[in-house]
Amino acid sequence: MSTYGPFALLTAAEATTRIKDGDTVAFSGFSPAGAAKAVPTALAAWGREEHRRGRSFRIKVLTGASSGHCIDELLAEAEVIAWRTPYQSGEALRRQINRQEVEYVDMHLSHLPQTVAQGFFGRIDLAVIEATEVAPDGRVYLTTSIGASPTYLQHADKVIIEINRHQSPRLREMSDVFIMPPPPHRYPIPIFDPLTRIGCPYATVDPRKVIGIVESDDPDKIGAFAPPDAVSNQIAGHVVAFLLAEKRAGRIPPDLLPLQAGVGNVANAVLAALGEHPEIPPFKMYSEVLQDAMVDLLADGKLIGASATGLTISSAKLKQIVDDIDFFAPRIVLRPQEISNHPGIIRRLGVVAMNTALEADVYGNVNSSHVYGMDVINGIGGSGEFARNSYISIFMTPSVAKNGKISAIVPMCPHVDSNEHSVQILVTEQGLADLRGLGPMQRARTIIDRCAHPAYRDYLDRYIREARSGHIRHDLQRCFELHRNLLAYGTMLPTENE
Ligand code: COA
Repeated sequence: MSTYGPFALLTAAEATTRIKDGDTVAFSGFSPAGAAKAVPTALAAWGREEHRRGRSFRIKVLTGASSGHCIDELLAEAEVIAWRTPYQSGEALRRQINRQEVEYVDMHLSHLPQTVAQGFFGRIDLAVIEATEVAPDGRVYLTTSIGASPTYLQHADKVIIEINRHQSPRLREMSDVFIMPPPPHRYPIPIFDPLTRIGCPYATVDPRKVIGIVESDDPDKIGAFAPPDAVSNQIAGHVVAFLLAEKRAGRIPPDLLPLQAGVGNVANAVLAALGEHPEIPPFKMYSEVLQDAMVDLLADGKLIGASATGLTISSAKLKQIVDDIDFFAPRIVLRPQEISNHPGIIRRLGVVAMNTALEADVYGNVNSSHVYGMDVINGIGGSGEFARNSYISIFMTPSVAKNGKISAIVPMCPHVDSNEHSVQILVTEQGLADLRGLGPMQRARTIIDRCAHPAYRDYLDRYIREARSGHIRHDLQRCFELHRNLLAYGTMLPTENE
């Protein structure tokens, strides 16, 4: 038998024989960064084979957040996933969730490690964790994300480590693994700056639980972003102008506050615009993932340093970091997701949160996850914990989707991820609504005037004028009229848009 130190070397196919129908399996990965690859790929093939033989083979799947192709696409397509948490962004899996073929628990990402550690989801039968090295005493050096892997290593009954030869062992120089004790034994987490390090560069596992090592040699496969489009650039312009005005007014200190940016093209455009603006001083980020635009900003010195839980970056950007690791390692800290997204630290540092919405209602409640309140796109991810606990919470969205057939400003959101109390600034390409200190009707006026697309302003105006008056005005017969139209006619305003 081949070995890796004191551990047995397994092929991915051998590893899958340790997974039984009905098991709960936790995979490493926060986005495709650091996701287990070899075992889930072999598991998808094994699942298909079991189904062909007429046998049931479905498992519960946990990861750090969304995951790589091998998990949310291959495993889903093989119909192996019965239950999934805490976030996803795969097309195949999304389809199955929305057909109710897969149970999906969409949750705040910082809650996940505690939820697992306290047994709220029951036992974890197996964890499959990607690493660059595991030492005989159980030190595990993770790859491009930390996520929930330290918790899975501690709480799973059995562990398989995927040693990924493709990833540089020097990635550990960015890792800062710190596990909180369970309540009531917690003490203040001593992070006073995005770059404070409080842990060690490895996670730990009881070596007796490690049932085997699987070798792999695969990159994370994260695509590069398309260059920002005109709408994203307009949104970015409004956000940058707002931050500069806040700085001038003394509500944000001269050297800014740590920033958080959600994922996607709008966030990428905002980061690029911040980098280019001469009046924006070098700043730090306390965010969830490191994205391509942040690597450029670090290289240029515009970004002093960043805290995150994963490197959600293209292969070219990862190469840039690894090739110049002496420069980048002191400027990037990768933490477990309960620390990168920790509400107390976000509040303490005064993070300015910038997240993307699907839609917002005229009072500022935000839907980030469920179209018509029914079909999930991805999930709440980290947006809720950053928005709720930030110093200033900004939500951004184009004012319309699907060539104007959908308005992102609606009378009432049929699903709310961040409510009006957690939303202070709303931005579309049309403009920016500063909702601080405004009552409900003032909020409605500001959002309609500044953020709604002109094609929808009259409708929204009429809605609030004609609605029943209370502290908040609503017409419960008509509050979802736009969504009902969309379902019935494929457009929110059938007559106006025809
Ligand atoms: N109603 C219906 N559909 C809508 C819509 C609306 N109001 N707004 C957008 N859409 C559609 C788009 O047309 C697109 O559909 P398509 O894939 O068929 O083209 C889809 O929804 C996604 O929209 P897009 O503009 O491409 O989204 P994005 O990549 O900018 O992501 C979110 C926006 C909200 C889905 C994404 O940011 C998200 O999942 N957020 C929650 C998690 C999060 O914020 N994480 C980071 C926190 S640290």
